[in-house]
Parts: sequence; C-alpha cells; structure tokens
Amino acid sequence: MNIDLCKIIELPKITDPRGNLSFIEGGNQIPFDIQRVYYLYDVPGGAERGGHAHKGLHQLIIAMSGSFDVVLDDGKNKKRVHLSRSYNGLYVCPMIWRELDNFSSGSVCMVLASNKYDEADYYRDYAEFMRNRWQA
Ligand code: TYD
Repeated sequence: MNIDLCKIIELPKITDPRGNLSFIEGGNQIPFDIQRVYYLYDVPGGAERGGHAHKGLHQLIIAMSGSFDVVLDDGKNKKRVHLSRSYNGLYVCPMIWRELDNFSSGSVCMVLASNKYDEADYYRDYAEFMRNRWQA
C-alpha cells in the first residue's frame, strides 16, 4: 500500500445560516463500510498519539473540532497532513505508519474504521512494520 492512496476526502457540506451539516455514509463517500467509530479528546498540549500501522484496517480521520497533524509513512515516503476542517476526512489505507501530533487545545479527532478493535491487526514496532512492509 502506497502513501499516495491516502488522500483528503471532501465530505458533503450542507451550508445553512443556522449551522452547517456534513454526513458520511458507509461505502458512499468513503471506500469502506464503517464498523467502528472512536475519538480522541482532552488531548494535553504536546501529546502524540498513533505510532503504529494497521495490517488490514481502513480509516478516515476527521478533525471534528480544532486541529492536529497526521504524519503518514509507507516505509519509503512520508507526508504531514494538517487537519482543521470538519468537512474534510483523511483516508488512511492499511500498512501505513501514522503519528498524530500538534493538537490544538480542545481538539477532537474522530476516526471511522472498517473493522472492530483487534490488537492483532496492529504493528506497534516500526522495525517489524518495515520488515513486513517490504515482504509484499
Ligand atoms: P491506540 O490505538 O494505541 O491509540 P492511538 O493510536 O490513538 O494512540 O489505542 C490506545 C488504547 O485504547 C489501547 O489500549 C487499545 C484501546 N482501544 C480500544 O480498546 N478500542 C479502540 O477502538 C481503540 C482505537 C483503542
């Protein structure tokens, strides 16, 4: 899996003077069905999250409030993506090492995932990720 597959997906935005509305339907706006939603909040200044890769999981990462950065690494190329709009989602395909940092105060990071939580789907060791990354 190549880092170029990880892209910002612009979600539908229904603008309204009463407040805007965006929506996501599994398999429609995003290339997977949603099996799980989780979110990071109350992140202290300077904290870093992530620091792992997934073997088979597809994810969409959205800054629901505030902003943060996602650093993506496919073992060959890296890119840093700044998320700050709740109508933008960053699609992350399997076999991408990711780190999240630069959280603004009060930010909320929501993640839509293609499967339920499974620790066996993680690479938490970068060297192990690299060994397996280049076997395919
Ligand atoms: P982890 O995925 O390492 O967090 P992050 O990538 O955001 O830094 O998960 C942190 C802990 O939470 C770990 O003990 C597993 C647990 N967890 C669940 O139980 N369910 C979940 O859906 C997720 C994402 C994590």
